[in-house]
Amino acid sequence: MSHIRHILILTILLAAPASAQNLDSLLARMTLEEKLGQLNLLSADGRASPQQMQLVRAGKLGGLFNVIGAENTTPVQRIAVTESRLKIPLLFGLDVIHGYRAIFPIPLAEAGTFDPGAAEATARAAGQEAAAFGINWTYAPMVDIARDPRWGRIAEGSGEDPYLGSLMAAARVRGFQQNIFATAKHFAGYGAAEAGREYNETEISQRTMREVYLPPFKAAVDAGVASLMSAFNDIAGVPASGNAWLTDTVLRREWGFTGFVVSDWTSVAELIPHGVAGSQAEAGRRALTAGVDMDMQSGIYVDSLAALVRSNRIPMAVVDSAVMRILRAKMRLGLFRDPYRARTAPANAELRTLARRVAGETIVLLKNERSLLPLDKAGTIAVIGPLADNKEEPLGPWHTQGRAEDVVTVLQGIKSKVPAGIQVLYAQGAGIEDTSKAGFAAAVAAARQAKVAILVLGERGDMSGEAASRSSLGLPGTQEQLLEAVAATGTPVVLVLMNGRPLILEWASDHVPAIVETWFLGVEAGNATADVLFGDVNPSGRLPVTFPRVLGQIPLYYNHRNTGRPPDPNNKYSSKYIDVPVTPRYPFGFGLSYTTFTYSDLRLSAARARATDTITATVTVTNSGSREGTEVVQLYVHDVVASVARPVRELKAFRRVTLKPGESRGVELRVALRDLWFYGLDMRPVVEPGTFRVYVGPNSAEGLEASFECIP
Ligand code: NOJ
Repeated sequence: MSHIRHILILTILLAAPASAQNLDSLLARMTLEEKLGQLNLLSADGRASPQQMQLVRAGKLGGLFNVIGAENTTPVQRIAVTESRLKIPLLFGLDVIHGYRAIFPIPLAEAGTFDPGAAEATARAAGQEAAAFGINWTYAPMVDIARDPRWGRIAEGSGEDPYLGSLMAAARVRGFQQNIFATAKHFAGYGAAEAGREYNETEISQRTMREVYLPPFKAAVDAGVASLMSAFNDIAGVPASGNAWLTDTVLRREWGFTGFVVSDWTSVAELIPHGVAGSQAEAGRRALTAGVDMDMQSGIYVDSLAALVRSNRIPMAVVDSAVMRILRAKMRLGLFRDPYRARTAPANAELRTLARRVAGETIVLLKNERSLLPLDKAGTIAVIGPLADNKEEPLGPWHTQGRAEDVVTVLQGIKSKVPAGIQVLYAQGAGIEDTSKAGFAAAVAAARQAKVAILVLGERGDMSGEAASRSSLGLPGTQEQLLEAVAATGTPVVLVLMNGRPLILEWASDHVPAIVETWFLGVEAGNATADVLFGDVNPSGRLPVTFPRVLGQIPLYYNHRNTGRPPDPNNKYSSKYIDVPVTPRYPFGFGLSYTTFTYSDLRLSAARARATDTITATVTVTNSGSREGTEVVQLYVHDVVASVARPVRELKAFRRVTLKPGESRGVELRVALRDLWFYGLDMRPVVEPGTFRVYVGPNSAEGLEASFECIP
């Protein structure tokens, strides 16, 4: 049924209300000012201002964003379609990143499900809810690969891996576009901002760009994404918002993208401070001719480009192409036929059920000594920490219309889980960034009375997201000291983390028996966390990003190359540090379960294969513990000898498998050899003959090994 529905909705979405011919004649009737108007996008402050309404009337605005509620979108759309000369409807954009009002887990958390279906489901639901409030275009998914946890926007994407990132990108595009248009952002390389500092420059080799940063965009394009957003950063001196190689050569010519490109917020005007344009007009010309169709918030296209077009310094054909891309998008969305797009929001209960289920799937069990978890629903429980009963922070960054009042806190989740009669003590202990230890005594006293102390620690929601780079990645404020003080009571401690990025957790990893990574889980955070703490949900989330031991290891990611002197504990002159291991604290793909899984009998379908073939790896996975659980079986590949040094491992397939206690299953993972391409010496994609090692296991650092030969 869902498949048929999917096709049906897509057909409706893609149906052409006005024909291409009609659009041609519409374009022919447009004045230059009206054309540039279609390329102009402005932010409202909840509702369109009188000046913005005037621009709509005059045909000088193609879309608005941050107009909140259909009661505000409808009147301005009415102006567009009844009062403007050409009656062209508006796009209404919004950053619906992980929910509209019903907030789901942050995208980084969702990537950890290794379940693109989950990401598709939340994107679909978020899009449907947003559509009911007049939104027809979201600025998501963010598909930037991020290898530096100092960068706050790591929370908005799918982490460090291009394969997982591509699957998540495509899933989210499919999900959103059942109801609204999606935007893959930020094109491209933004995740490589130097030193993790927001908006910073990037230095990305062509090869790394092609192999690491671009694939999720390509996946989004292949999934039919309507728009891309150009990034703030420069790449080796060429700003992404004025970069013809990216937005024209790669995106349109190589990938055949037919949608439109929107700039990021004033990123067209920012070509001036970047130092590649001396005036607004020059900045606008550079961006538009590079292929950035819509100018977000700079107002440059509409204000400064007409003279350049009239004097032929910008060909009219360039303007026309950009305008046609916007008009075609509006047609594809059905706006000419149905500009108001009245939609019904999904039922709140349905949204919350989905939020709880997906949140439960994202949680990563990092440590569980002597099976401290799951907890029995018995004995006194102390719940401690600044995030334990906090209703605001679980919403995380970019929570648009999410409200604190909708959030179930961890304390509430625990209280509603345990039977009456169980004492649940609560002490805040400290603020998130406080320097005070005044609350420690009450926290310690609560822990002393309890059988177990659950400490809920981490970051504020707005410590990740945009403009939220951190130069230290420990628990903020006095939280680590609070943890130490509570642990010193001898009461067993469960550390529940809420954060938007990998944290440095050295003391906790060495001293705390159980650690649970919950990221920012949205409205159902507390229930989902309690589900895991008490074993109603067996954790199956895996890290979509590496957790370093110390800040000085950054950037640290699993798919690095080997160097000529791979780290060797017995060789001083090998690639390592003198003061810290080279290995991460928790590797990419890592996550424990309340049961254990063993891997045996890895077999490949062939010892030799051609670049056009597919190899199937079969491995026996056994649930060797005493609970039902879900394992994420991961397959990595290493191209041993190639003309260009290849990463030590690259994720190429994975599968979630649920097994009953004692159950064994042969799990098949398929790899098409054409997906083992890389950019060769001549900068063309190539699959080279030679030996490929295959690793199949529970994460990027463990697993069984086999190999095959790729033959010419
Ligand atoms: C700037 C951010 O970089 C981008 O991701 C977002 O979509 C726009 N602002 C609009 O809010």
